[in-house]
Amino acid sequence: MAAKSFKYVIVGGGVSAGYAAREFSKQGLNPGELAIISKEAVAPYERPALSKAYLFPEGAARLPGFHVCVGSGGEKLLPAWYAEKGIELILSTEIVKVDLASKTLTSAVGETFKYHILIIATGSSVIRLTDFGVKGADAKNIFYLREIDDADKLVEVIKAKKNGKAVIVGGGYIGLELGAVMKINNFDVTMVYPEPWCMPRLFTSGIAAFYEGYYANKGIKIVKGTVAVGFGSDANGEVKEVHLKDGRVLEADIVVVGVGGRPLTTLFKGQVEEEKGGIKTDSFFKTSVPEVYAVGDVATFPLKLYNEMRRVEHVDHARKSAEQAVKAIKASEEGKSVDEYDYLPYFYSRSFDLSWQFYGDNVGDTVIFGDNNPASPKPKFGSYWIKDGKVVGVFLEGGNPEENKAIAKVAKLQPPVENLDELTKEGLNFACKI
Ligand code: FDA
Ligand code: NAD
Repeated sequence: MAAKSFKYVIVGGGVSAGYAAREFSKQGLNPGELAIISKEAVAPYERPALSKAYLFPEGAARLPGFHVCVGSGGEKLLPAWYAEKGIELILSTEIVKVDLASKTLTSAVGETFKYHILIIATGSSVIRLTDFGVKGADAKNIFYLREIDDADKLVEVIKAKKNGKAVIVGGGYIGLELGAVMKINNFDVTMVYPEPWCMPRLFTSGIAAFYEGYYANKGIKIVKGTVAVGFGSDANGEVKEVHLKDGRVLEADIVVVGVGGRPLTTLFKGQVEEEKGGIKTDSFFKTSVPEVYAVGDVATFPLKLYNEMRRVEHVDHARKSAEQAVKAIKASEEGKSVDEYDYLPYFYSRSFDLSWQFYGDNVGDTVIFGDNNPASPKPKFGSYWIKDGKVVGVFLEGGNPEENKAIAKVAKLQPPVENLDELTKEGLNFACKI
């Protein structure tokens, strides 16, 4: 089979790929120049929907409703959009071999693809309990959530196990969003995680106490400080029990596991420089190999604001890094340059009627302000992180668009603070007057 050849190839068809395609089109692209190769069967879509509205019992989000680029407020890129622009979507195609020296990609069925410029946008894969040898972790109805296929299988089993028992393993993003959505589907939900409070990589104990209280008020049971060490299943191989390290046994019809992700860099091992678990890039998302770029979850890039190399596993960066890489590619073709990537970290989550945003860096001392009573009809509270006398990070639950803009501005400007008690008293007003 002759190799198909393109000027630009994006390997991976997720969030970054979609936003890169839009940027290519904005910058000027001839038909046939760009191909996106994805192991998923659908055009790029807004992945965050999978753990939220995609799983709702009523009015669930379905494609084509959330193909990229709706999440950033643009025109959604339907498959017809790619066809119209002459962008080739090569779907259901997994690349299993990459040779950066000869600029060749090989798919699982042996097709080969050549490129002039490659953008690596393979994202992350989930960490599985079978990776740590947890007994019985390959039973049926134990789910992980990364791609639309995973979500479709979960939707089927949610219907089949109506009003059953769900155990959520992990207290991070997936854990908190899936705990809520399974409750909304009327499951009896228990969450299990090893840490003393949920989402420890971002939340302080004070922030976590609000969400744990709110979830408890919704009837979700939370088991902390222990892990799942085994699963029991019935004669059909379907999961029935979760065995915890502390000896307890939880009944389960469905288990959803969210114990972290891993950037998908294996294809490129030994061919490109890596750092901090990701593919090392410069401020233009150029890797150590000429004409090879890496964006989204896989890229370890210079975070200018903190003068540090970082990897970010969130959608806002996936969108912006893709746009930056394409701008840089197009500029260099014209002998021009673009400004360095100057990213302000932005993470968010939604569950039940709650919605939070975080900007900046969660390092240093913290203060908490506002109404963080989980029983309040409209709770609204936040936290500031203060390092070297400056506010470097801000979290806000229940903010309106102006307030969210204000906290982003604070995280970017890093205003000085002298008195933390005053800052606590001022609360959100401190951000709104900056
Ligand atoms: P992404 O994972 O989007 O895309 C990678 C693509 O590459 C996939 O299509 C994959 O199939 C493909 N691929 C991988 N290897 C391949 C190969 N060898 N050959 C071909 N194709 C290959 N973030 C946030 O800020 N707010 C939120 O609410 C959420 N919510 C959320 C929910 C869920 C369920 C998940 C899994 C993740 C989130 N995130 C999030 C994180 C966010 O979605 C994530 O950071 C971005 O999708 C990363 O974009 P990428 O393009 O890097 O990878
Ligand atoms: P995570 O890193 O947010 O959370 C992992 C959690 O797993 C830890 O907090 C811990 O509680 C738990 N854990 C670790 N080992 C465990 C064990 N042996 N048993 C039980 N629990 C254990 O990862 P995630 O929630 O799996 O999310 C996966 C990816 O998807 C991440 O890249 C994340 O950023 C992304 N995501 C983001 C959002 C969002 O930004 N709103 C939403 C969903 C997913």
